Amino acid sequence: MATDKILVIGACGQIGVELTAALRTLYGNDNVIAGDLREEHPLLVGTGPYITCDVMNKELLLSIIREHRITQVYLLAAILSATGEKNPGLAWQINMQSLLNLLDIARDEKLDKLYWPSSIAVFGPNSPKQNTPQHTIIEPTTVYGISKYAGEQWCAYYHKNYGIDVRSLRYPGLISYKSAPGGGTTDYAIEIYHKALAEGSYECFLDEDTYLPMMYMPDAIRATIELMQAPKESIKNRTAYNLSAMSFSPKEIAASIQKHIPDFTISYKPDFRQQIANSWPQSINDQEAQEHWNWKPEYDLETMTADMLKNLK
Ligand code: NAD
Ligand code: SER
Repeated sequence: MATDKILVIGACGQIGVELTAALRTLYGNDNVIAGDLREEHPLLVGTGPYITCDVMNKELLLSIIREHRITQVYLLAAILSATGEKNPGLAWQINMQSLLNLLDIARDEKLDKLYWPSSIAVFGPNSPKQNTPQHTIIEPTTVYGISKYAGEQWCAYYHKNYGIDVRSLRYPGLISYKSAPGGGTTDYAIEIYHKALAEGSYECFLDEDTYLPMMYMPDAIRATIELMQAPKESIKNRTAYNLSAMSFSPKEIAASIQKHIPDFTISYKPDFRQQIANSWPQSINDQEAQEHWNWKPEYDLETMTADMLKNLK
């Protein structure tokens, strides 16, 4: 059997660093090439091949994919929700063109598989807020959400018309300690742990009762790999799967931190990200992921808080 050769684009980002490491453990260090615009992340240095690349440069991507005989690509480069609202044109351009470049290459070079993440940001204010179903009103109101929704439809289109094995997850807000988050609305749930340990207090940019769907990074990495390793016939959804683990508000995450750091205090000063958060679901129904490829999360708020504080210390 031919060896899988994997390219991770956006490998120095919040997900990329941990996903690249997990893929290297599974497929062998030399078989997983990390690529990003930025300088190599310190946690990746010395663990396998690294290439500086711009996902907007299709010719360069093509030559990397040919030269290294790449069979699978994980496309993680994107502009996230909060940064996207500051520069909508750029967010649309990067989020869309990067995906179209890779979908074309996947078709023309006959790649085995392509992974591209979507987000809970595809949902908008008219979507059901609680236990948001897989198939429901979408209508996103951020440029990030619009680009993710359009991207999902492009994935389904390339699968239907060209047989591309492209797979996707609608990640909730992801919480991790190894690499910094990249400009999302859910980033508060990472900053809060850092500030709790460093300063004993945190000023939150969302209101105390803003519930959002969230997930701890180890669950997100496992979900991604389980989705990508699932047999082709079990992937019945070719837009993107809803994915769920937990849902909490700033007040609740603060309370979970106070169990470990009793003197920790939180205050609230909502900014433009409040409006983005208000447009998103509060909790997600991921029954299809459970049924199609046996998805099950492991971490809840309490186990995540204990692990985050232990590791950040
Ligand atoms: P991130 O911003 O932390 O990382 C993105 C990486 O892409 C960065 O290292 C950046 O340097 C790189 N990049 C940007 N433009 C590039 C370009 N032109 N060429 C090459 N590399 C480029 O983002 P992340 O949180 O790791 O997210 C990865 C993917 O997962 C994105 O598609 C994002 O929308 C999606 N997602 C993330 C979350 C989350 O909470 N982190 C939730 C839902 C979906
Ligand atoms: N965590 C991401 C964001 O806030 C959701 O896709 O942008």
